[in-house]
Amino acid sequence: MGIETSCDETAVAIVTGDKRILSHQILSQKEHEIYGGVVPEVAARAHLHHIDHMVEAALGEAGVSLPDLSGVAVTAGPGLIGGVMVGVMTAKAMAAVHDLPLVGVNHLEGHALTVRLVEDVAFPYLLLLVSGGHCQLLVVEGVGAYRRLGTTIDDAVGEAFDKTAKLLGLGYPGGPAVERAAAGCADVKAARKKFPLPLPLVGREGCDFSFSGLKTAVRRMVELRVQETPGAKDVPGLPEDDIAAMCASFQLTVADILCDRAGNAIAEYLKGDPAAPALVVAGGVAANKVLRAALEGLAEKNGLRFVAPPVKLCTDNGAMIAWAGVERLRLGLTDAPDFPVHARWPLDPDAPVASRKSERI
Ligand code: KG4
Ligand code: ZN
Repeated sequence: MGIETSCDETAVAIVTGDKRILSHQILSQKEHEIYGGVVPEVAARAHLHHIDHMVEAALGEAGVSLPDLSGVAVTAGPGLIGGVMVGVMTAKAMAAVHDLPLVGVNHLEGHALTVRLVEDVAFPYLLLLVSGGHCQLLVVEGVGAYRRLGTTIDDAVGEAFDKTAKLLGLGYPGGPAVERAAAGCADVKAARKKFPLPLPLVGREGCDFSFSGLKTAVRRMVELRVQETPGAKDVPGLPEDDIAAMCASFQLTVADILCDRAGNAIAEYLKGDPAAPALVVAGGVAANKVLRAALEGLAEKNGLRFVAPPVKLCTDNGAMIAWAGVERLRLGLTDAPDFPVHARWPLDPDAPVASRKSERI
């Protein structure tokens, strides 16, 4: 069983060692919509309210009971710490009562390994991890073995989608809303000409990302368009075509940035002469079809296999945590009943100490 409560999804799933998803329960908390973003305390309370029912629903859907499980895996961080604690305490209680092995999973490792739940992908593979909180390029050398090639120096890419959506009055979560709106743009080339955006760090060495300049540019672009549009006092006064074109331009700009940075990472990854070179994309933003297509093209051009988990496994879910649990359990990597939770928890061992924050519970 895998439990995920690190953000605004209360999710529980049960998977088998032979890659069958027996249950897949996800509750996306609606409580945050009126705020246009996730409120940590509200999220923690909502997790507490829902978690028991979600566990019951997952057991019911799978047709198993707690003693049938071979282990309980739970997100131990990084994330909103109140929510993480709710999931971890639930998992610890169930494991203690039924004497089950317990695995505290790094949420990012959950995203990183998900692809192996659905496809046979051998280590080492190159991973582009794109979510609401992260944007990283990593070589996945094995379970628990990650080499970071690049990361964002400011905002995460999902954040850029969410902020763009907010500026354009498209609601939360922003990624799917921007993708939907962009799909309404008939001429993407013209859209990009009409609404050009900067490409931070593109063409430079290395594999780091930067999205804060892009975010500011989107704000300016929207303000300018409002000024230019007769009768428009604010975003709701803009024609739908303009909103669609701005979303399309933003989405393609992000695609170009990701491909440029991933291109540099591919060169670095190939230096290690991997036996079966593969580019994997994971995390919530990997649900975006335009980005997937662009990355697939990049992989093909460089002779890499491209693999992306199905959309329902890209955004936060319990199956990714359950699967990371399976991989860890197989290697005997279980955790003691007093394992800590982590608000910040980088995947790679070289990350600075300041980027870690843990607490015992
Ligand atoms: O991995 P995830 O579900 O949660 C985190 O661990 O952060 O990622 C959530 C992020 C949000 O920023 C959301 O807007 C973005 O993924 N997202 C998308 C799409 N679906 C979700 N971004 C672009 N296009 C999408 N279709
Ligand atoms: Zn995530």
